[in-house]
Formats: sequence, C-alpha cells, structure tokens
Amino acid sequence: MEAVKSIDLRKTYHGKETIDALKGINIFIKKGELFTLLGPNGAGKTTFLRIISTQLLPTSGEAYVLGFNVLGEAEKVREHIAVVPQDVATYGNFTPWEYCYYFSLLRGMTKQKAKEMSEKALKAVELWELRNRTCATLSGGEKKRAIIASVLASDAEVLMLDEPTSGLDAVARRKVWTVLREMVEQDKTIILTTHIMEEAEMVSDRLAIINRGELIAQGTVEEIKGLVKERFRVVVEGNFEALEKFVNIHSTVAFGSKRVIYVDDGEEAIEFVRKALKNGLRAETSPITLEDVFVKLVGGEFE
Ligand SMILES: Nc1ncnc2c1ncn2[C@@H]1O[C@H](COP(=O)(O)OP(=O)(O)OP(=O)(O)O)[C@@H](O)[C@H]1O
Ligand SMILES: [Mg+2]
Repeated sequence: MEAVKSIDLRKTYHGKETIDALKGINIFIKKGELFTLLGPNGAGKTTFLRIISTQLLPTSGEAYVLGFNVLGEAEKVREHIAVVPQDVATYGNFTPWEYCYYFSLLRGMTKQKAKEMSEKALKAVELWELRNRTCATLSGGEKKRAIIASVLASDAEVLMLDEPTSGLDAVARRKVWTVLREMVEQDKTIILTTHIMEEAEMVSDRLAIINRGELIAQGTVEEIKGLVKERFRVVVEGNFEALEKFVNIHSTVAFGSKRVIYVDDGEEAIEFVRKALKNGLRAETSPITLEDVFVKLVGGEFE
C-alpha cells in the first residue's frame, strides 16, 4: 500500500477569477521514502499538500493517505500525519520547547517519551539553546525551525512539510536535509515541497515535477534526468564564435559571455572542452542537472 495516492485530483478555486490549481494529478508516494513536489510559484504544490493533509477539499478526484480516504476518513488520516505549513504562524507566548513537548502530549505520547522526542528534535534543528525563549522573540528562520522540530518530535508516520527550508540560511538548510534523511532511515515517509532544484536533487528518493497544475514527470532523479537525451552540460566562457559551427548543432543557452551547451555523452563533452580550450576559451563540463531537465520539460526547448 502506498503512503499517499492521488487519482485524477483536481482543484478549482472560484474567486473573482476561476483558477484551475490542480488539473488531474496522479501521484504515488511509497512508504518510507522522501518524496518532493518540485515546481515554480503557483504550480499547485501547497494546494496538493493541503488536500492530502485534509485541510482543503478537492473539486474532484480521490486521495488516500496510508489507505485512508482524505474525504471520508479525514480523522484517521490526521492521526498519522504531522504538517509544517508554508506560512508558519507561531503563538508568540509559546517557546520552542512547549511547541514540541505539548504537541507531542496532545498526540497521546507519554510525558517521558515526549521529553525525549522534544530534546532530540530541538537539538537536531539546533534550537536547544533557545528552547525556553518565547517564539515572539525568535527570528523568522528560528520560528520555522521550531515548527519543524515540533513535527519531528511528533512521531507521526507521514510528515508533510511545505517549503521547510525557505527562509533558512545555507547551514540551517543543510541541517534540515540531514535530519529529514535521518527520519527516512527510521522508516518515516516524508513529503516536502520546494522550488529549489538543488534541494530536490539532494534529498529526494523520488520526486514529482508540477507546473501550472499539471504533473510533468514523476520518478527518481535519475529517471527524470533520463527523460531528456542530453547527459552532459559544457559551460564555455569567452568569444565562442570559433566554435559556432559545433555549437549550432546542440541545444544551448547563453547568459552574457557564458554559454551552456548540452551534449549527449561524456566523450563528446570532453572533446568539446578540448576544442574550447584550444581556442583560448574557458570551459568545463559536468553531468546535466535537474534544473537543466526542468527547464527543458517545462519551458520546451533550452533556447
Ligand atoms: N485560496 C485561493 N483562492 C484562489 N486561488 C488560489 C488560492 N490558493 C492558491 N490559489 C491559486 O492556485 C494556484 C496554485 O497555488 P499554490 O499555493 O498551490 O501554489 P504553490 O505551488 O504552492 O506556489 P508557491 O511556490 O508560491 O508556494 C496559484 O495560481 C494560486 O494563485
Ligand atoms: Mg506553496
């Protein structure tokens, strides 16, 4: 049984204008994996997460969490999930410790276990020193980390985090990645959203790319990279007119004096770098990134 399954899930918002936020999404998330919803602003990530966490009703389609229907069995779903919303609003008088400890008690944990879990979670996000400060006096990133800690301390089976690392600095972001991977090792299922390609590439077991309410691709990073034929990228810098003929047969994209050329295999990439260096250009090659693939799948061609 999947941790999460959605079948032709649709959501239309009827406001001043009608917005089709989800246009028939079929997603399968396995138990014990870290699954990322990757997509640009307005893609429908939050909408999807709010539906599967029983906070929002779909317009049509079905969704199940651990086999429980999000419509008919919302209570059951809620027993097994913990959620970090995109816009965390903290109760100013609460301390990070209280967030973790009391929410764990509310979920039915024993005092001893709640204490242990809270300590572990607060240490994991490096808030232990600040655990007794009221949230009103914490920075934005510290507040976010307090909410993340409360979810880590919850012992829920499925954790849903909507852009958990937005607003965090590079060091804190990596800490969160580490903690999330540790939770997956302990058999938790984690669903997170992000628009940061590097994040999706670094932490995901599997991911779904969504854009404008549509599912573009779903699979492991390698599977998704396999959807385009190019395997390598070569970045050249300088006057690349000398290489123009060679460049023209490939997809390329230019940023000022830099140009990225996509090639099908490693040998071709190395040959290209040699040619470029011979012509006095700077050049380097690396495997294609998820961002390259994303642009190709979502934005049509590279050009
Ligand atoms: N309550 C609402 N009423 C009307 N339209 C909404 C509402 N919430 C979201 N939308 C619209 O639905 C679409 C999807 O929004 P959603 O918040 O799911 O995107 P997202 O992928 O989470 O984006 P972001 O990366 O900016 O958080 C957007 O076009 C948005 O403007
Ligand atoms: Mg969102």
